[in-house]
Parts: sequence; structure tokens; C-alpha cells
Amino acid sequence: MAKKLNIERIISNQGFGTRKQCRIMILNEEITVNGTMCDDPDATFDLENLHYTVKGEPWDYREKSYLMLHKPSNYECSHKTQHHPTIYSLLPHPLVVRDVQCIGRLDEDTTGLILISDDGQFIHRMSSPKHKVPKVYEVTCKHPVSDEQIAHVLKGVQLIDENAPIAALACTRINEYVIHMTLAEGKYHQVKRMVAAISNRVEGLKRIQIGELKLPDNLAVGKWCWLTADDMKKLSPK
Ligand code: URA
Repeated sequence: MAKKLNIERIISNQGFGTRKQCRIMILNEEITVNGTMCDDPDATFDLENLHYTVKGEPWDYREKSYLMLHKPSNYECSHKTQHHPTIYSLLPHPLVVRDVQCIGRLDEDTTGLILISDDGQFIHRMSSPKHKVPKVYEVTCKHPVSDEQIAHVLKGVQLIDENAPIAALACTRINEYVIHMTLAEGKYHQVKRMVAAISNRVEGLKRIQIGELKLPDNLAVGKWCWLTADDMKKLSPK
């Protein structure tokens, strides 16, 4: 049976404020549902295909949120930041209220693809070392990258504090200084430490793919978008 809820609860669950704050917005005629203004906080609606606006801004009802962000440099991936603004300041406030979390942090100077969600199971699946979701990084190195260095990361490098050598799943040269490196793990500063272990140095780092999902060319730096059903498929284990 289709799930129905009253509009006050729906708007509040979606992150637009407390029940009381949402009731006031509804009574103030600031909400439309499926194209019609709704000033009755107790009016109930089917949650499936529910479109609403809050103060003129259009939203779709989403039980859980799944999005991607093109992280800029000089943003931190935590809620309580130390030196730079938080990536959460790049998202609409209702999503932050819903307590979305990024999946796998990037360093403050790393750019590129970050997944964000409030679905605990999805976050766990995408970040658990057990599932080994591959991530592809575009790495700009300080020195030209030699065939020996590429062979070395593919064979495995010993990092301090790790029990066994760690190998990249793939490593291809894009030009003299730039490589694409695919990793199964998400260890602290892993790319920088692996590149240091082959006697080179990371000058620029961008995550360009997670699972089969590539950072879209048309997602500008600092912008976010919802994950489509097709994107979600690209993140599912085969
Ligand atoms: N590896 C790093 O060294 N830094 C990142 O931000 C991500 C992977």
C-alpha cells in the first residue's frame, strides 16, 4: 500500500525545520504540493512521486539522499573544520539537517568526486574495506614518472604502519607527469604515501571515479547533483 504522511511531517522529515517551524510555513502559504498551494498542515499525501516547493524552491520527496559533489581544493571533509570551510557548506541546508555524510574523505588539497548520503547501509557498503570499491585518482607528480615507478606501485609498496605491501589495482601513464592510479583501499593519505614510496611526490590529486561512476565533465568544481538510478547501478557490486 502507498505510504501517506501529512505535509507537516513530510516537510520536517525532509530537513526544512521542526514540526512547528514547518506548520508555520504551511499556514503562511509557503508550500506547494504537486503544483497546488497547501495551507493545511494535516493534509496527507502519497510519498511516491511527490513534488513540492518550499518558498518557491522545487524539491522531490526522497526517503534517503544520494548525491555527488565535485570537491574544490581548500575545503575540508569534516563538519568541524580547522583551517578551511567545510564541504557541507556547498550543500543546501535541508540536506545538512538530514545529516548527510561524505563517504571516504579527501584531503583539503584534493579535488574531485565525493559521494554523500544519509543512508547508513549505503555509506557502510561504499566505505567498508571488505567491499573494496575501486577508486581512480588522477595524480600529477613532481618528477617524470618512470616505467619502474609504475611497475613498483603495481607490484606493491611497503608503507610505514602497514603490515603488508599495498599494490595499486591499475596504474597508467597519461603524460610524463600524470598517472591514473586505481586503489581498492582508502587508507589515510594513501596516494601521497604510495607515490612518496616510489621516490616521487604528489603535486596535484583529483579523484575521478568511484566504482564505475566517473566524475561527470559537466559537474563544475564546487557543484553537487543527485545520483541517478543509472549512477547507483554503477556503484553496485557486479
Ligand atoms: N589519497 C591521498 O593521499 N589523499 C586523498 O585525498 C585521497 C587519497
